[in-house]
Amino acid sequence: MCGIVAYIGSKPALPILMNGLKRLEYRGYDSAGFSVLNSDNGKLETVKTAGKIKALENKAKEINAAGALGISHTRWATHGGPTDINAHPHLSADGKIAVVHNGVVENYAAVKKILEAEGVKFTSDTDTEVIAHWISRFYKGDLNEAVLEALQSLEGTFGLAVICQNEPDVLIGARRGSPLALGICENETFLTSDTSAVIEHTQKIVYLEDNDVVSIRRNGFTVQNIKGQPVSREMQRIEGDLEMAQKGDFPHFMLKEIFEQPEALRNCTRGRLILEEGNAKLAGLDNSLKELRSIDRIIITACGTSYYAAMVGECLIEEWAGIPVEVEYASEFRYRNPIIGTNTLVFTVSQSGETADTLAALKEAKQKGATVLSICNVVGSTIARASDGGVYLHAGAEIGIASTKAFTAQVVVLSMIALLLGRQRRLSHENGIEIANAIDSLPCLVEQTLKLSDDILAIAKSYYKSTNFLYLGRHYHYPVAMEGALKLKEISYIHAEGYPAAEIKHGPIALIDENMPVVIVAPKDALFNKVVSNARSIKSHGGKLIVVTTANCSPIDEFADHIIRIPSTNTALMPVIASVPLQLLAYHIAVLRGNDVDTPRNLTKSVMVE
Ligand code: F6R
Repeated sequence: MCGIVAYIGSKPALPILMNGLKRLEYRGYDSAGFSVLNSDNGKLETVKTAGKIKALENKAKEINAAGALGISHTRWATHGGPTDINAHPHLSADGKIAVVHNGVVENYAAVKKILEAEGVKFTSDTDTEVIAHWISRFYKGDLNEAVLEALQSLEGTFGLAVICQNEPDVLIGARRGSPLALGICENETFLTSDTSAVIEHTQKIVYLEDNDVVSIRRNGFTVQNIKGQPVSREMQRIEGDLEMAQKGDFPHFMLKEIFEQPEALRNCTRGRLILEEGNAKLAGLDNSLKELRSIDRIIITACGTSYYAAMVGECLIEEWAGIPVEVEYASEFRYRNPIIGTNTLVFTVSQSGETADTLAALKEAKQKGATVLSICNVVGSTIARASDGGVYLHAGAEIGIASTKAFTAQVVVLSMIALLLGRQRRLSHENGIEIANAIDSLPCLVEQTLKLSDDILAIAKSYYKSTNFLYLGRHYHYPVAMEGALKLKEISYIHAEGYPAAEIKHGPIALIDENMPVVIVAPKDALFNKVVSNARSIKSHGGKLIVVTTANCSPIDEFADHIIRIPSTNTALMPVIASVPLQLLAYHIAVLRGNDVDTPRNLTKSVMVE
């Protein structure tokens, strides 16, 4: 998804912008560009190109771009294809104002019409070019004023960074519905849509709110609302360091993040389990404890992998707390006019905390008067800040586009919430102690499971040329199967479906033949014997069976083609363990197919458009 990095200070801006853009590569993009104010001739130097940052770097060698003020951007095409011309920055007709933009200008066609009638010639197909000309139309020597005036009539969403060659000491930022933050250092300031672009420089961050316009100078900044009234925004310290944003010895971020799971889960549970009381203490829910006691229904809304984590959460909360839970795709929830009673609690789940559909669902739930709590990984993200409370994952930055450690951490956070709600209701002290200890031991069990990576690579070698896969599971492992299939689709581009195991006899069994690998998630639990029957019928139709199980010496050993034997724990927590081999299987298959697993085609890390 699009990314912004801008700089004002005393150092050469270009290398800083390039490094920042590289840190944003993980988000996915199809073109990139920058404008730097050349301190030798006082003119804006703009370079942009379709393709990767490397291509931009090569192109940048051709120009002299010395200067300590600049804006830059990675673009993911929305209006207009991924071409050099459509890449950002976009310039005003006189070339004096440069703009980079995340978001969508909804009334761009109407604004473009006005500008064209006034004689402005457009060079690109983008909505962003409209912004550059529109700001220029209002420019009378004060860029901040011009941006404020221009934004009055622009509809839609934006994170903006704007510079003007007449004002070498000013960088303007503006935000509505698309994240933007300042990174503060002595005598230099960064403006970015994603703090991972600036963590190598500073951990001091000021998050802008919707409708903020910031005017940044070398010695400080001021924030106004869109009406021009001053507002104050607090500085915060962000978590994370540079090491977290680097691959280390791993060939891919995805593999690093799969292997980071024990540590991520330790960080996620640290200080949150009270083993002797058999309970969880989640600071972000402390203010809501009384309210939590009286809720009688929960809605969890999310997208993609986070949605599957929510489905596991549904099973956990219903099982331990006895509260009815509904899980809804956020993209559906927002338009469905959902019924939210006075004792209904809404949770959103989002790794990035920026997903547009999830944010819109949150707003819809709040509009209807619900308390909304959120489970996010990115601290200070829009969803986290728009919620009434919630729980951070503390899983560390997730860079690989395919979510892995965030998924297991989401399930663990949901398990702690289920424990807390359960202890307010039907879980005994003894049950609580058993569950709290089981949650506490998950990092060790995930560590053991990761040792299976080479065995899973061997299985991947047998199937990486397959064109279809089926993933099956029941109860807790139905969402695990769905998530396993999603992982494979995303990075290997193999068609895969996740299905409830018992349902395949109602149709999908017709797909089974010797070319269909079927991954069955079948830990030894109450449904194990039934899943064994499902597996047997697949085998009898010629399917290739890869079974993920905790069972030793079960009948399944006799007819499965491959067994992945994982450690066992409390039945309800098995999804955390069982999803790890599926992540590894997808990873190894994608690598064997020669795919770019960290930035798979057509995908972006945070989906900030509808
Ligand atoms: C899949 C994946 C996506 C995200 C989805 C929601 O690996 O990463 O399906 O889970 O786009 O993103 P968040 O959790 O950031 O709201």
